[in-house]
Amino acid sequence: MAILVTGGAGYIGSHTVKYLQERDEEIVVVDNLKNGHREALDGVKLYPIDLRNQEVLDRVFKEHSISSVIHFAANSLVGESMEHPFEYYHNNLYGTMNLLKAMKENGTCKIVFSSTAAVYGEPEETPITENCGTDPTNPYGETKLAMEKMMKWFDQAYGIRYVSLRYFNAAGAHYTGLIGEAHDPETHLIPLILQVPSGKREKIFIFGDNYDTNDGTCIRDYIHVMDLASAHGKALDYLRKGNSSNIFNLGNGRGYSVMEVIEKARKVTEHPIPAEVEKRRAGDPAVLVASSEKAKKILDWEPRYEDLQMIIEDAWRWHRNHPKGY
Ligand code: UFG
Repeated sequence: MAILVTGGAGYIGSHTVKYLQERDEEIVVVDNLKNGHREALDGVKLYPIDLRNQEVLDRVFKEHSISSVIHFAANSLVGESMEHPFEYYHNNLYGTMNLLKAMKENGTCKIVFSSTAAVYGEPEETPITENCGTDPTNPYGETKLAMEKMMKWFDQAYGIRYVSLRYFNAAGAHYTGLIGEAHDPETHLIPLILQVPSGKREKIFIFGDNYDTNDGTCIRDYIHVMDLASAHGKALDYLRKGNSSNIFNLGNGRGYSVMEVIEKARKVTEHPIPAEVEKRRAGDPAVLVASSEKAKKILDWEPRYEDLQMIIEDAWRWHRNHPKGY
């Protein structure tokens, strides 16, 4: 019996595939390769298809005995979603609908879903628990929340059980430095900072230093991509044991400001990394920090990389060796 990983050639998807391979799981990947990279996969069957193509997706389910699904395939950039909401609704919702339909028709009844802290919008409290209200401030978060809701109703009607994992800020790379984060264009803080010592940019821009935080810059909860990968494994174990559908936050529970991240990166890379303050980026909440107590307690998940320095060291190993990505 195989696990179908959608979006398995993307950043978090490919690290999860690697983790599952280390656990000797049988894996099949579908990825339209728009943001994913063939080179991020080694020794797994890849179907380069889009979930919106129901016919081809059905063929994958017919060719393999799929026992469970891990669903990453989605558009996932906040800024882009504000400019192209149609594409976000079409890809994220229609793709998920087709996937759940194929699962229903083929008797696949377990799905682990890649969700996001963006479902919370401006947080009501810190740290954020799963009980906090959801009120996304962009189409990306809105579509992820709608995908979660779709799963809730498919569970009720057809018994497809789901675990939704709401990640905070994914960062880092596999310790081998063979796979890592490679987006084009890159918008995330840590890879952008590391482009300075890699010689790809002269300085990093800090988006606002007048927030209500210690040093005035935004605080985020950075979580190592391999800790996210292991959480997917734990979520799968949870569903395999017959447990009911559930939602979990994934973060370290500790926030770092943009200034602190830059300072750590200077230490790791031994490069001065010049920084310049710019105006605020629209829609950035001042502080986003997770409470992951629920995942620790119920999934028996424990992040192994609590220290931001370790996360940046792994990211740097990847970026130093692959300044142009794959
Ligand atoms: N930042 C800068 N300069 C940059 C890039 C980012 O100062 O060049 C700042 C941002 O303003 C923010 C922090 O660094 O305060 C982190 O920004 P990222 O773009 O790396 O990440 P976000 O916190 O915006 O986004 C993350 C996930 C999204 C998710 C969102 C939830 O990447 O998928 O959290 O709010 F939707």
